[in-house]
Amino acid sequence: MILPVYAIGFPVLRQKAKEITPDYPELNQLIADMYETMYASNGIGLAAPQIGLGIRLFITDGSEIDDIQPEGFKQVFINPEILEEFDTRWDYEEGCLSIPTVRADVNRHSKLVIRYFDEHFKEHVEEYDGMAARIIQHEYDHLEGILFTDRITPLKRTMLKTKLNNIAAGRVNVQYKMKFAKR
Ligand code: NI
Repeated sequence: MILPVYAIGFPVLRQKAKEITPDYPELNQLIADMYETMYASNGIGLAAPQIGLGIRLFITDGSEIDDIQPEGFKQVFINPEILEEFDTRWDYEEGCLSIPTVRADVNRHSKLVIRYFDEHFKEHVEEYDGMAARIIQHEYDHLEGILFTDRITPLKRTMLKTKLNNIAAGRVNVQYKMKFAKR
């Protein structure tokens, strides 16, 4: 089932999400719905707060990205914790399904180590770099109540202020199902 994507403006996007246990109700269905929702909006990552759930879960699929490692990067991250970020910082122009039509450079570390549980609640500790690390950092931020527009330059943020208010109010042209706090 395709779920509406919550736009910037909802408190759930600004809260620290909570860990879940393996008995979380209908977890498999939720993950399937999140994938369906993400594909319907052409996303490469989606975090649970973006569908209105304040839980520590995000999904990825980087198969549209050339040479991404690990190949395809289709993964489920539950209760993740970034243990370390390191190596060179780099700029990349990010976007977010909760902030349609906005793109801006975000500066992040190129490598990280993350501990998480997969959809079978098997624990992993893994290192990622490049675009996979970038997607993880963006989605992980969602679980911390952080949006990529918090990480852009103050000047750019000032320039975007009106646009972000318009998006929160639903004054934006978007091709996928969304939910707006102020409409
Ligand atoms: Ni996002």
